[in-house]
Amino acid sequence: MCGIVGYIGAKECTAILVNSLKKLEYRGYDSAGIALFEDDRIKTVKAKGKIDEGLMKRLAEEPHFTATAGIGHTRWATHGEPSDINSHPIGNGRVSIVHNGIIENYRKIKEFLTDKGYGFESQTDTEAVAKLLDYNYNGDPIDTIIKTIADIEGAYALGIMFREHKNRLFAARKESPLIVGKGNGEMFIASDVTAILEYTREYYLLEPGEIADITSDGVKFYDIHKNRIEKELQTADWDISAAEKGGYAHFMLKEICEQPDALKKTINPRIKDGVPDFSECGLTDEKLRNYHHIYIVGCGSAMHAGMVGKYVIEKLARTPVVVDIASEFRYRDPLLAPDDLVVIISQSGETADTKAALELANSIGADTLAIVNVVGSSIAREAKMVMYTLAGPEISVCSTKAYMVQAAFMYLLAFRVAYARNAIDEAECRQLIAELAEIPSKVQQCVDDQAQYQKVASKLMSADSLLYIGRGLDYALSMEGSLKLKEISYIHSESYAAGELKHGTISLIEEGMPVIAVATQHDLYKKTMSNIKEVKSRGATVIMVCSEDMKFDEADNDSPVDYPVMLPLARDLLMPLVAVVPLQLIAYYTAALKNFDVDHPRNLAKSVTVE
Ligand code: AGP
Repeated sequence: MCGIVGYIGAKECTAILVNSLKKLEYRGYDSAGIALFEDDRIKTVKAKGKIDEGLMKRLAEEPHFTATAGIGHTRWATHGEPSDINSHPIGNGRVSIVHNGIIENYRKIKEFLTDKGYGFESQTDTEAVAKLLDYNYNGDPIDTIIKTIADIEGAYALGIMFREHKNRLFAARKESPLIVGKGNGEMFIASDVTAILEYTREYYLLEPGEIADITSDGVKFYDIHKNRIEKELQTADWDISAAEKGGYAHFMLKEICEQPDALKKTINPRIKDGVPDFSECGLTDEKLRNYHHIYIVGCGSAMHAGMVGKYVIEKLARTPVVVDIASEFRYRDPLLAPDDLVVIISQSGETADTKAALELANSIGADTLAIVNVVGSSIAREAKMVMYTLAGPEISVCSTKAYMVQAAFMYLLAFRVAYARNAIDEAECRQLIAELAEIPSKVQQCVDDQAQYQKVASKLMSADSLLYIGRGLDYALSMEGSLKLKEISYIHSESYAAGELKHGTISLIEEGMPVIAVATQHDLYKKTMSNIKEVKSRGATVIMVCSEDMKFDEADNDSPVDYPVMLPLARDLLMPLVAVVPLQLIAYYTAALKNFDVDHPRNLAKSVTVE
């Protein structure tokens, strides 16, 4: 996902723009650049590669200059390979822009402009917008922007400079998020508040279709009819350390260790009189009693949290739950009805497929509940009801604490649905909540005992491929474990229902192939153990993540388990919240041992705002 920054004020801004861009590196990118007002021209410096390798080297080659206004960009390539020429900012000397999103009709625009005599240097969709702004320019930047955005289709957040208006920056957005930061005699543009926290925690959220005209003294907002808009100033309540590593080697490790705190912050405010409370979003018991189906939709880890939700809601509330990958849900013409509830899970609140799934659900008239971590994000604003996970900023591309609190929300929802439907009584609901409140301390125990995960990681790091297996909730959890390993260590893995192995996949097992078995469900333990013996007898190296009361005699040579990973005991139903921590840390240490860029895995972005 691309990152946008901008500055206008009294200070020399090159360092401010670069520093702000570095705060957005977590979003994933392949090139970076800035554009500055220098005297009466727009100076652009940009390069393929990471900021320190590309952009900083180019800046060092530049003769000294001072600028007090400019825009910057980190690009995650969608149209056109990563290259200097495809990097942003993009413009023609009169106009310069940075863009996050996808312009769906860019080819048509390019054809139109080519007929008007325009040439194109890059392979990007963004260049079509830059040249269209130039074509539409009539001396009034707001008129120009309004006319231009009327002609473009797709998702965009734009930072814009006009050479003839060197004391102003402009911003506009449709789908992709954008904020305008308010400082003291200086103003900012940013894709999200982490980019500017060092300078200000006050900002305006740009809404779709709004345009910002920004000077060092302040900002004016317009709608697409050029009507002035008054907007409420927001204040970021994160402290800067929350958006920095705080001494950890990687954000991922920091965020794994923050999970006990994230759980408390997310769960505790939603417990009233000992039972879950959803009144903050208007989800009443009457609604919960009347929903016919509950759908849970998300991507990646968010969908995996939904898988845990399915098992728990169906087990406790006996209510049918359908879990769907958002990119499937949105195109499979789901049997959704107005008396259904669609729970949309998303850390960023900007994932394109998840947002489209939400829009589909809204269009059918179903109730929609968004469980989102980023305040004011698109999904949060478009859902009929929203509950925020309070994990704080998740910087690492690999989701950990966000998954944890999403899964925790699934328990709160399951308990409330079951209670509202009289599937459990108040005493049972209180007991479940009391045990849920104990989970952060058990997660802390896992976080404190990292040596055993490092040992397992050392056995995995040379593997070509491995399996994660489990039954029931353990199977749901194994999906998340497998994704963690794949996305940061680049080792192929697959999660598999343990009981299904013998129907084909067991043929993959060969001598020394690692198999990670998740076995926390006592009623399924013996079945899972049988599956473990099946793979062991075919040469697998078995790592078993299991509850501490599933005792082994490690000296037992006949044990099918090579590396037991013992977990603090909790109710089986709650064990995914505990067992996920070893799976996260095994993946983390495997990638760290391979010296990979854990927080910025290749090919990935923190939020996939394109289809
Ligand atoms: C998880 O580690 C990945 N980063 C990815 O699967 C992520 O969970 C998915 O892209 C959904 O993102 P969201 O929660 O921001 O919608």
